[in-house]
Amino acid sequence: MHNKVLLRKRSGWNELYTPRYAIEPLKKYLLKGIVDLTFTKSDYGIERAPIIWCPFDTEESNYVKVFKEWGYTVIHSHIDDGKDFFNYAPEEYDYIISNPPFSIKTKILKRLYELGKNFAMLLPLTSLEGIERNKMYKKYGLKLIILDKRVSFFQGNNSNYFNTSYFCSNDFMNANFNNQQIVFETLDKESIKKEKHQKTHQYYKDLRKENE
Ligand SMILES: C[S@@+](CC[C@H](N)C(=O)[O-])C[C@H]1O[C@@H](n2cnc3c(N)ncnc32)[C@H](O)[C@@H]1O
Repeated sequence: MHNKVLLRKRSGWNELYTPRYAIEPLKKYLLKGIVDLTFTKSDYGIERAPIIWCPFDTEESNYVKVFKEWGYTVIHSHIDDGKDFFNYAPEEYDYIISNPPFSIKTKILKRLYELGKNFAMLLPLTSLEGIERNKMYKKYGLKLIILDKRVSFFQGNNSNYFNTSYFCSNDFMNANFNNQQIVFETLDKESIKKEKHQKTHQYYKDLRKENE
């Protein structure tokens, strides 16, 4: 795993880890994965099931775990593994999905639009504002998946609650939804309850172990 680099200070708004229930709502908007057994060439216009790149994620990330469970091929990369989002990209992928470091969201959105692939990024709705961001939204388009409840992100032994929604590229949603600009999703109360008691994210357990 990561060792020394991982021990570098991990605090603030950039180190918040996403629970599974905040990822579940994405399922119906994605092209089907191989688990659905409905993969055909014509579904994708490509000869394989879709590949999702999670660019701010290690193998412990719930995004990586959940997408794999859904049958997607997942590529994950993280700055601690020497893969900086701003100068690394996999050779082949179809979607870019993650919860990014919020403090550099404008720079991230710029790179996402430049990469030109479909993306969904979990961000606070205040990210709708801003001169630079507005220029990009106008130029390239934006779709939103609004989550009805605050998400409790894992942060060390604690959690941090706040509102976030998925900021998506113009063609992110599959054909069933492609004429909608904003969709509203209900986070499942039972799933929230289940994860609430999972106090410590696996990532932090590993971190502490290496610190001992
Ligand atoms: C808000 S956290 C979310 C982590 C994970 N995506 C999740 O949702 O559980 C963002 C992560 O991106 C990492 N990161 C920051 N800058 C990065 C960069 N330029 N390239 C790749 N990862 C970066 C941070 O260290 C942090 O772990």
